[in-house]
Amino acid sequence: PSARMTIDPHFAIGRIRRRLFGGFVEHLGRHIYDGIYEPGHETADAEGFRQDVIELVRELGVSTIRYPGGNFVSGFRWEDSVGPREQRPRRLDLAWHSTETNEVGLHEFSSWLEKVGSDLMMAVNLGTRGTLEALDLLEYANVPGGTELSERRRANGREEPFAIEMWCLGNEMDGPWQLGHRSADDYGKIAAQTAKGMRQIDPDLKLVVCGSSGAQMPTFGEWERVVLGHTYDDVDYISCHAYYQEKDGDTGSFLASGVDMDRFIESVVATADHVGAVRGSSKRIDISFDEWNVWYIDRYEGVDKITGIGNWPVAPRILEDSYSVLDAVVFGGLMISLLKHADRVTSASLAQLVNVIAPIMTEPGGPAWRQTTFYPFSLTSRLAQGEALEVKLDVPTYETARYGEVPLVDAVATHDAANGTAAVFLVNRSTTESISVEVDVVSLGEVSVRETHVLTDADIHARNTLEDRERVAPAPSDTVALDGGVLRLTLPPVSWTAVALG
Ligand code: AHR
Repeated sequence: PSARMTIDPHFAIGRIRRRLFGGFVEHLGRHIYDGIYEPGHETADAEGFRQDVIELVRELGVSTIRYPGGNFVSGFRWEDSVGPREQRPRRLDLAWHSTETNEVGLHEFSSWLEKVGSDLMMAVNLGTRGTLEALDLLEYANVPGGTELSERRRANGREEPFAIEMWCLGNEMDGPWQLGHRSADDYGKIAAQTAKGMRQIDPDLKLVVCGSSGAQMPTFGEWERVVLGHTYDDVDYISCHAYYQEKDGDTGSFLASGVDMDRFIESVVATADHVGAVRGSSKRIDISFDEWNVWYIDRYEGVDKITGIGNWPVAPRILEDSYSVLDAVVFGGLMISLLKHADRVTSASLAQLVNVIAPIMTEPGGPAWRQTTFYPFSLTSRLAQGEALEVKLDVPTYETARYGEVPLVDAVATHDAANGTAAVFLVNRSTTESISVEVDVVSLGEVSVRETHVLTDADIHARNTLEDRERVAPAPSDTVALDGGVLRLTLPPVSWTAVALG
């Protein structure tokens, strides 16, 4: 099979915001403890943070990082996580049936963020707490001084405000598993009230209201309509969350996960715009896709779950998915889907970052390494600059059990007019066929191929493990040729490819 497409700066979708390449760090499993923080580790710095992990996070290229949860946030008392460490309480974490020691809290995490060069996106607890506690946290974090809570921050060693701009109004409040789960109506009211109060303190905040935990939720669509009905004037973003896994050996559907993500985004945009139209509002609500990844959630539900009144481990090994080449190709396809909607998806967070459904793994007292999914993220984050471009794909289709007939190839291009560079990202969803692709790049003028990266393997289940940490990595393409304004390349079956031009 073959495919054709065109890269033309006139087909601009939207400017790519750095926030699209965000991450997510939750107090969950070995994410913080034995992940980013391990005081006894040979690479630990004076604050106990692993410098090998810091290096990898920098290389990954994550912008904003969402914190401290996730489901964790719905039972979180932020006051526990600040002040003298020896006085911080150990608490039950009901979301993950663990013990939270509070050794790492807001101050420590913010210091770690400075080391990795990322910004904080803070979530408030609207599950078991309310507006007042959210306002208290905002006062503590962002008010320069002169009040009880801002002075407490200064006394705790942080003179300057944290100046956190992005705030999530709770987490997955539509999910029955969520502590404090509410109806759309009840959540919409408390979210609007909290947002209004937060803006009275700091009008420049960017606020994210909870959308659905997935397009498969029974309340999907209606949840967005009702919640935005309450909050439209008070928030900037509505969230989307989506996780994908291969089910029942249906590789074809799994490879088409990006199609589901496309439809999800487009439905939420349509719903948000409908609410705006009914209100006669010229304001536009953007999407914060603040949890997305491949996650073998069935594995967690079946095996990993911790139970027992006397069993609340610290930093248990849970949600430690090991990602294959196939997973990474799907993952790269999800990034293509996000870029294809760069006009409305202006913030996103890969869930998560270290050890917990993560691109980076660590062993206590041992090494840190890159999972297969590390590569499509780091390469897309580095190469996708400027504007996202629609590529007008002409490509054969295949039939999937879950999504019907879908294109065999998905692709998006990017173009940075400021420095004359471009990039194209492609995924071949065929499990058997190579696909030759012709890309018309005449409109880019005089360009040459700067870099090529192909992620594929004869064994699509190959992965990087503690024992074999560099088994999988992208390789340069040996099929790329650029001649007379036409870029030609061949995409191997089950592959993700990036080509940088300039
Ligand atoms: O990322 C893991 C969990 O997935 C998060 O805590 C929750 O928000 C979602 O259900």
